[in-house]
Amino acid sequence: MEKITSLAKRRGFIFQGSEIYGGYQGFWDYGPAGVEMKNNIKKEWWKYTVYDREDVVGIDAAIIMNPTVWEKSGHLKAFTDPLVECKVCHKRVRADNEEAVADHEKTHKDKKDIWTEPKTFNLMTEVLLGTTEPKEKSYLRGEITQGAFVDFRNVVDSTRVRIPFGIAQIGKAFRNEITPGNLTFRSREFEQMELEYFVKPDEEDSKKIFEYWKEKRKRWYEDLGIDPKKLRFHDHEPEKRAHYAKYATDLEYEAPFGWSEFEGIHHRGDFDLGNHNLSYRDNLTGEEYTPWVIETSGGVDRAMLFFLIDAYREDGERIYLKLNPKIAPYKVAVFPLLANKPELLAKAKEIYKNLKQKLNVVWDDRGNIGKRYFAQDEIGTPWCVTVDFESLNDATVTVRDRDSAKQERIAIDNLTEYFQNKLAA
Ligand code: GAP
Repeated sequence: MEKITSLAKRRGFIFQGSEIYGGYQGFWDYGPAGVEMKNNIKKEWWKYTVYDREDVVGIDAAIIMNPTVWEKSGHLKAFTDPLVECKVCHKRVRADNEEAVADHEKTHKDKKDIWTEPKTFNLMTEVLLGTTEPKEKSYLRGEITQGAFVDFRNVVDSTRVRIPFGIAQIGKAFRNEITPGNLTFRSREFEQMELEYFVKPDEEDSKKIFEYWKEKRKRWYEDLGIDPKKLRFHDHEPEKRAHYAKYATDLEYEAPFGWSEFEGIHHRGDFDLGNHNLSYRDNLTGEEYTPWVIETSGGVDRAMLFFLIDAYREDGERIYLKLNPKIAPYKVAVFPLLANKPELLAKAKEIYKNLKQKLNVVWDDRGNIGKRYFAQDEIGTPWCVTVDFESLNDATVTVRDRDSAKQERIAIDNLTEYFQNKLAA
């Protein structure tokens, strides 16, 4: 994790939020490479979940909702974690985090009975709205999910969706986490990408749809390069399920800090639509019922962190990120062999500008060529184009592959097509 944290900062992926004022626990900023990679992840998810299907539509709901939403959804009562406090040094940890509890006990080896009784702690983040006192208490959403439920009727009335269908959404959520940590793994502000898939209430059919989405979600991560050996499902025991879940599974990743939740797949039954008093009428059959919901709920930040961890490679002195080109921040880097030769500079700029029209391309003319390869490897740029003196004579350039470090000569006129074919492969 130290290596990933250091690379994330050094190469502009992830910075500590408000770093110049000592940071702010559980808040992170994405740098120039980070925001590109995060946008790519969201784009790939949207394509897979919305564009490649005919039964899913998207929404973008407000972060702050009428507080009644959170009363009805059960979050004000039940969206809690158990917290214990050390009686010796007042450190607080989640009582169900056995590793953190055991680690802390080691720091007070000579003492017994160091913990207070567990207290439940609500994760919702309060905000105060209005211009006059007393201000109205509201909340930053603790999950993006509720938007899909409160907009359910509007979506049905304004589109041609019929059950079964899904509502997809990507957006920020906020939680007052007791122990944020492991870089962005557990943050207080984070982004979720969720699908709420509405089905007819039927035990057997809904179970099949649940299984279908479990496999679909696992495949998405694998297709984007996550090592399948590092993925597994973990079914939640009834006492560990969220208050809304009929049953639930976590897709887990084997991180350097142990097997950890990547994404939750939940069968929410009619919990939410029922609580919001919403039902569905099938216009063709006249049937009326409260649909059940199968949910896939992933974290964008967590996906990005695990993609970075999984892609990290050391090859002697060389460090590189073996990212799938689809999510790599930049597809191609272009540089002149020597930055102080105007004719090389001009040719390289021309190629850069041309490629930029079709692909996300980065320019680099710092230091020597070795240093530039080193930097692009660490950012995970799949291909580097170098313009040298030969380029001026034969209209070819060197293309270097990130993973093999092999180089080949490619005609300048064919470059865009060459990279587009590689990306489509
Ligand atoms: N709507 C259901 C829901 O929110 P969840 O299991 O609490 O379910 C879903 O969260 C996903 O959101 C998690 O699997 C994780 O990827 C991400 N997530 C949750 N809390 C997070 C946090 N504090 N920091 C970063 N990501 C988080």
